[in-house]
Amino acid sequence: MAITKADFGNDFVWGVSTAAYQVEGAHNVDGKGPSIWDEFVCKPGKIYQKQHAQIACDFYNRYTDDNRLIKELNIPNHRFSLSWSRILPEGTGRVNRKGIDFYNRLIDHSLEMGIQPWVTLYHWDLPLSLQQDGGWVNRDIIQWFGNYVENCTRYFGDRIKNWIVLNEPMVFTGAGYFLGVHAPGKKGLKNFLAAVHHAALCQAEGGRVLRQFDQSFNIGTTFSCSHLEPYRNIRKDIEAAKKADVLINRLFIEPLLGLGYPVNDLKILERMEQYFRPGDEHKLAFEMDFIGIQNYTREIVAYSAFMPFVKAKIIKANKRKVETTLMNWEVYPQAMYHVLKKFGDYKQVKQIMVTENGAAFNDHVFNEKIEDCKRKKFIQDNLAELSKAQKEGVNVKGYFVWTLLDNFEWAEGYYPRFGLIHVDFETQKRLIKDSGTWYRDFLNHEPE
Ligand code: GAL
Repeated sequence: MAITKADFGNDFVWGVSTAAYQVEGAHNVDGKGPSIWDEFVCKPGKIYQKQHAQIACDFYNRYTDDNRLIKELNIPNHRFSLSWSRILPEGTGRVNRKGIDFYNRLIDHSLEMGIQPWVTLYHWDLPLSLQQDGGWVNRDIIQWFGNYVENCTRYFGDRIKNWIVLNEPMVFTGAGYFLGVHAPGKKGLKNFLAAVHHAALCQAEGGRVLRQFDQSFNIGTTFSCSHLEPYRNIRKDIEAAKKADVLINRLFIEPLLGLGYPVNDLKILERMEQYFRPGDEHKLAFEMDFIGIQNYTREIVAYSAFMPFVKAKIIKANKRKVETTLMNWEVYPQAMYHVLKKFGDYKQVKQIMVTENGAAFNDHVFNEKIEDCKRKKFIQDNLAELSKAQKEGVNVKGYFVWTLLDNFEWAEGYYPRFGLIHVDFETQKRLIKDSGTWYRDFLNHEPE
């Protein structure tokens, strides 16, 4: 029997997620300061076909129409992020009134339409001027971030009840400060470890600032995570998978839960010690109301003598003859079940929300229609796995599709389309895909 909304319970939160840099455009409009992504997209060789997000989905000017589309799809919750440099153009100090006005308009219009906002404070677009002072590598980021969060509570805290502190710290530190493939394009272990420690401190600090402003806020933070399996059932691969698990799944959640960094399972993390100041062990911890899990796939891990520190490598999906998405991620819905069980096993986790899940496939517009059966099936199968975990006792209370609109997919540019709604980037015309219509009908079903 097909899964229905009723299977998830009356209080289950249904939504859709977006991020400021990926949809807003208006990159230098109304006093917005540049972010590290505004700069990064201009560097040669970084983004697919030299694309950028100066216009993106033009959500800045079209949010009322897009809210109407959210409404048309019966989606009651919209997770979006605030652009730090739209609010504080230099990252600290001067507030940009027009930036505040924009988010006030967006929040007010969403509420008028009956769409609950879930605000992500940081979805990767650090103000460029803060990067000029080292960005996440500089410990001062704790003050900069705290001050930014305070501003957000002051201006929006009367209407925003649901807050998400960071989006996927492992991705923005790993891709941005170790591999150099995302903004700000920094590389190396030193940059990475410092950025990790400061991001881990900020995820807790952001929670504290929010809680202090209003005890009743619903506060969470998100983690990217994958289900990992060893390539072969041999000791070396099993150990490699365990090490990869530290980096991919455990690095940020464990200090937050008061467990410290998983140093025993990955020795290189001992080097984090140099960035510690007295009291940091406590400052890393914060009691979140929920954690956001973001899962797209599983990874297969093998031992590799050549990989420094972890001695592990990921066997890419296209080398494994499995069905993949346009991101070269294996289509493996069971991963959803496994990660929910895994994160649900931490006794300190109160509640889990799936704050992102979705897929990029080739979409074809034909007679003003997009029959994206694969995306629809992907979401349905993932929901079935979520439901299975829920039935086994995991306290998972929400699901947000990534994403509303086809948008700027970071280094991949506009090529991978993840949206429930197709965007023609020449004309900005929106077209609801079959997956969107399916989600609409699914959400329309009111439990008895
Ligand atoms: C997440 C990220 C999103 C989106 C998605 C699909 O890692 O938070 O911004 O890009 O992946 O790749």
